[in-house]
Amino acid sequence: MIIVHTIQEIRKHVRDLRAAGKSIGYVPTMGYLHEGHLSLIRSAKEQSDAVVMSIFVNPLQFGPNEDFERYPRDLKRDAEVAGAAGCDILFAPSVEEMYPRGDGKVLTTVDVEEVTHQLCGASRPGHFRGVATVVSKLFNIILPDKAFFGMKDAQQVAVLQTMVDDLNIPVEIVPCQTVREPDGLAMSSRNVFLTDEQRQQALVLSRSLKAAEAAVAAGERDVLQLKRLVREMIEAQPLADIDYVEIVNFRDLATILTIEQPALLALAVRFGKTRLIDNTVLAGR
Ligand code: PAJ
Repeated sequence: MIIVHTIQEIRKHVRDLRAAGKSIGYVPTMGYLHEGHLSLIRSAKEQSDAVVMSIFVNPLQFGPNEDFERYPRDLKRDAEVAGAAGCDILFAPSVEEMYPRGDGKVLTTVDVEEVTHQLCGASRPGHFRGVATVVSKLFNIILPDKAFFGMKDAQQVAVLQTMVDDLNIPVEIVPCQTVREPDGLAMSSRNVFLTDEQRQQALVLSRSLKAAEAAVAAGERDVLQLKRLVREMIEAQPLADIDYVEIVNFRDLATILTIEQPALLALAVRFGKTRLIDNTVLAGR
C-alpha cells in the first residue's frame, strides 16, 4: 500500500490509475480504524479496481466544545490494518494541507438544508457543514467513481447523497451495513473512551433498537409509543444520558407520527464525555 500526505501526490496516483483504465473506490475516514472501516474497504475492493482510503480528522466538523483534540489517532497501526484489508492508497493529509488558510479556515462551505436540521444536526450545530465541505473537497481531490459510507452514520449518508444529487457531483454513494461487536455494540473509534461499566451499560443502545424492531414486528406503529419504549430502556441505565431518541421518515428524515413507510430510529446517548450514536431502519425491510 502506498501512503501519501499531499494533494499533489494523491492526484498523481489517481491520474495514473485512471490512465490505466482503473475504477476508483473511495473510503473517507477519520482513522483509528476498526472493523467497521475495514468492511468499507472490503466493499470498495469488491466494487472497484483500486481502493483509496483517506484518514483526516477534520477540525471543521467538530464544535468548539467537542473532542477534536482528544479524538484518537494512530496512523502507524491504521496503515497496517488498511493495507491488510486491501486498501491500495492511503491519503493522510495534515490540517494545513487541507486548510491552507490556517486552522480549519475556509471561505467556501457546503450547506445542505432540511436533512441537517434534526438528529445530530440539531445537537451539533455546524457539524454537517463541516462534513459536507470536507467530503466535497476530498471528492474533488480524489475524483472517485464510488464512495463507501457506513449506515452507522445514517444522517451523514442522507446529507452526502443530497449533496451529490443537488451539486451534480459524479460520485456514487454506496451505503454499507453497520458492523457491531459480538455483544451488539456498534463499532466506533470513540468506544475506546468507555470504561468497563459504561461499555456494559452502552449495550442498551442496540438492545433498545432491537426491542423497537420487535414492537414494530408485533404491530406497533405509533412513533410516540416506540420512542417511549426506547427512552425508558435507556433511562434505566444510570450512566446513560440521552441526547436524542428520534424516529423520522427514512427517505427524507422528515417528522412522522406513525410508521407507514421505512422509518429511521436514531439515537445519541452520552456515557460520561463519550457520545455514542446508533440507529436502525424500522419496517419496510
Ligand atoms: P469516521 O467516523 O472515521 O467514519 C468513517 C466511515 O466509517 C463512515 O462512513 C462511517 O459511517 C463508517 N463507520 C463508522 N463506524 C462504522 C461501523 N460500526 N460500521 C460500518 N461503518 C462504520 O464519518 C466520518 O469519519 C467523517 O464524518 C468523514 C465522512 C470521514 C468526514 O470527515
